[in-house]
Amino acid sequence: MNPGDHPFFKVVEQRVSARNYRPDPVPQEHLELILNAARLAPNSGNQQACRYLVVKDREKLDELKEACIINREKVLRARGDEVPEESAIREHYDVVFSAPLYVLVLVDKTVRYKGYEQKDGSLAAAHIILAARALGYGTVFYTDSIPEDLCMEHLDIPERYSRTCIIPIGTPERWPEKSDRLPLSELVFLEKIA
Ligand SMILES: Cc1cc2nc3c(=O)[nH]c(=O)nc-3n(C[C@H](O)[C@H](O)[C@H](O)COP(=O)(O)O)c2cc1C
Repeated sequence: MNPGDHPFFKVVEQRVSARNYRPDPVPQEHLELILNAARLAPNSGNQQACRYLVVKDREKLDELKEACIINREKVLRARGDEVPEESAIREHYDVVFSAPLYVLVLVDKTVRYKGYEQKDGSLAAAHIILAARALGYGTVFYTDSIPEDLCMEHLDIPERYSRTCIIPIGTPERWPEKSDRLPLSELVFLEKIA
């Protein structure tokens, strides 16, 4: 096989952040394959600081969505930005919360090798995102769109954890266009960076 034809590269090529989902559930065996890929990710000193909180409960997701809507208005006002109609903010968050399930990548802040947890969390998230794409699902690495403090409060997450990201997993309503990247020639340097 031509090395470039390896299925891994197809998965990487096809991955794109998806934000609008169909409600179709993700079968448990698919979710387990995806989370097992996260479990096997490289991590600092093999201290395994990551935990994965799966949220499917619509009531909990709706509560978090309402908190995000209220918060968004407050943030825009505090910044002095134009505040859209509440209905526009709600429409946006109806999309953000359209997936059938969400995985929060949490990291234990009490681990021995402190300061590495967020790096561990990001690597685990990358495994989740690529494994999900390999199985035909969309994802996105959400941070500020669903603020960490709201997740901590509304999903009742103990203080010892901090959140790397929250990842929806589901079948996209439609696959978005891939976003552009700089060419390798602008990104890669041999021996010395300009
Ligand atoms: C650290 C990090 C934080 C991100 N936070 C958000 C976010 O809060 N909201 C959002 O819509 N997308 C977020 N994204 C997704 C990026 O916007 C997206 O990956 C980027 O625009 C490239 O597009 P692509 O993933 O489709 O290639 C985040 C991605 C990363 C890696």
